[in-house]
Amino acid sequence: MRDAVEGTRGRVAVWWLAVESVAESQWPALAALLDEAERERAARFHFERDRHSYIAAHALGRRLLSSWAGGAPQDWRFSVGEHGKPEVVVAEGAPLLRLNLSHTRGLAAAALTEGGDIGIDVEWLDRKAASLDLAQRFFAPAECAQLARIAPEQAGEAFLDFWTLKEAYVKAIGKGLAHALDQFAFTLAPLAIHFEPTPGDDPADWLFRQFRPTPRHVMALALRPSGAGQPEIEAVARTAADLIGSG
Ligand SMILES: CC(C)(COP(=O)(O)OP(=O)(O)OC[C@H]1O[C@@H](n2cnc3c(N)ncnc32)[C@H](O)[C@@H]1OP(=O)(O)O)[C@@H](O)C(=O)NCCC(=O)NCCS
Repeated sequence: MRDAVEGTRGRVAVWWLAVESVAESQWPALAALLDEAERERAARFHFERDRHSYIAAHALGRRLLSSWAGGAPQDWRFSVGEHGKPEVVVAEGAPLLRLNLSHTRGLAAAALTEGGDIGIDVEWLDRKAASLDLAQRFFAPAECAQLARIAPEQAGEAFLDFWTLKEAYVKAIGKGLAHALDQFAFTLAPLAIHFEPTPGDDPADWLFRQFRPTPRHVMALALRPSGAGQPEIEAVARTAADLIGSG
């Protein structure tokens, strides 16, 4: 797997793992890729499904980092920014590795690049309840107007399209939900961000992608690349065996 992300500048890797595909017997080996603090945190989850998504996301992230830059998955260290965004600790002078994780019921994802800003968000499609109410409360008026034009049977999925894009963006800038979600708006076709009513970042600096990693999940990537040129995005489904088996 080392070859999968060789020649890393200008590249972006997005890995995901369908949690139900993991056999019961594989969980200990996946958990062994985490560091001790993460294993302790995993043990504190009340529901097994949350524990599994958490372990899957952190195992993905650590294995991705090691595939990219070498070393043992367990050895990566993170610092935490003002709004809680974990950042990879790298040696002085080494390339800045930017990793972001997301986990939801049944799916975990990790996105990695060098330099730049990156955010990823995954959601479970069945999480549609009360979605239009949520949009009215949190989204920009332009997004609510787009949702209102969508047939009711498709509105739940469209809501999650907006939601994952918005979360991916606020995660990329590191602010998370401390950033007001109504200060910027997406259009889906063409896929673009608009900063309104207050001017924000330059939309031209940002690149977004949407994925359907499984029939039941929505995923979005937000990226502000560090250099010029179109980045090469590798989006790959991983299995537990991929993560456990490679050294
Ligand atoms: C970051 C945040 C958007 C996560 O959204 P979510 O959909 O619940 O969770 P996801 O699975 O997509 O992402 C969680 C991962 O994002 C990363 N993360 C945490 N804070 C982050 C931030 N500020 N920016 C980017 N990534 C962040 C972590 O790796 C986290 O994984 P972990 O909890 O397993 O360590 C949200 O929880 C948040 O804003 N937290 C910051 C605290 C805050 O501002 N609270 C305000 C309360 S309204």
